[in-house]
Amino acid sequence: MNVLDDAVNRLERWQFLDKIGDPLRKATQFAVKPRMVRNLLSGIPTGHPLHAVLTDIPIGAWTMASLLDLVGGESSQQAADTLVAAGLVTAVPTAASGLNDWSDTFGETSRVGVAHAALNVTALSLYATSFLARKAGRRATGRGLALTGLGVLLASGYLGGHLAYTKGVKVNHTAWHEGPADWQDALAESDLEDGKPKLAKLGDVQVMVVRDRGQILALDNICTHEGGPLNEGKIENGCVTCPWHGSQFRLSDGAAVRGPAAAPEPSYEARVQDGRVQLRARP
Ligand code: FES
Repeated sequence: MNVLDDAVNRLERWQFLDKIGDPLRKATQFAVKPRMVRNLLSGIPTGHPLHAVLTDIPIGAWTMASLLDLVGGESSQQAADTLVAAGLVTAVPTAASGLNDWSDTFGETSRVGVAHAALNVTALSLYATSFLARKAGRRATGRGLALTGLGVLLASGYLGGHLAYTKGVKVNHTAWHEGPADWQDALAESDLEDGKPKLAKLGDVQVMVVRDRGQILALDNICTHEGGPLNEGKIENGCVTCPWHGSQFRLSDGAAVRGPAAAPEPSYEARVQDGRVQLRARP
């Protein structure tokens, strides 16, 4: 294990961070309750998590500002200041989308998220102070603060990478599920009652099969958000609601219609042959 892994492992055990995380989670969950806010911050309109896209903007702007500070000379001062300001403005929606993603995490993952947020707030404060120093004509101070902010931002980026790539936050939990291209036997049609999901297995993939208003519909059973069991969810208005964090997927095609999930659920075509329900992956 390298030094950084060791440090993050220790951070994951700092239970005192829960004292900050728990009330922050409650406040965030309240703020993102409206469907439109939740969907937008989760990335439903694009089908991809919004936070990963937005982070590029302030990080890119602030990195370029420091580059201009270091090698751009006097003629680049205005451009560097504009980049610092652009980073400050775009950091706000970036933070909001990150908080939304973090609000569904608990335990070790949540603690890393709290540290990630604390470093981002520190970086933001350093850049805000840098901007004020630049406007007051104290360029050397402004440059120094921005460079320090960039260092803090890099440390925070490491934790952000840990959350996504090691802890799987906002990773599509069905990414490696491949349903059969040919029809496969799933279950007896007589097992299906309207609105009551049943579980079927197609090779290694678990599929939720449901009869909804007379139509047989099937989705991958593992929620794309964090892997919740959709067969334990509620069926209403042509959708299934995940029992873990409330994501909703349309039964007819798996589209995510309510966050926090951004990725659609793999869906299956269904037919009945000799009283048996057969399924195949929707092309
Ligand atoms: S696991 Fe989070 S909404 Fe399904």
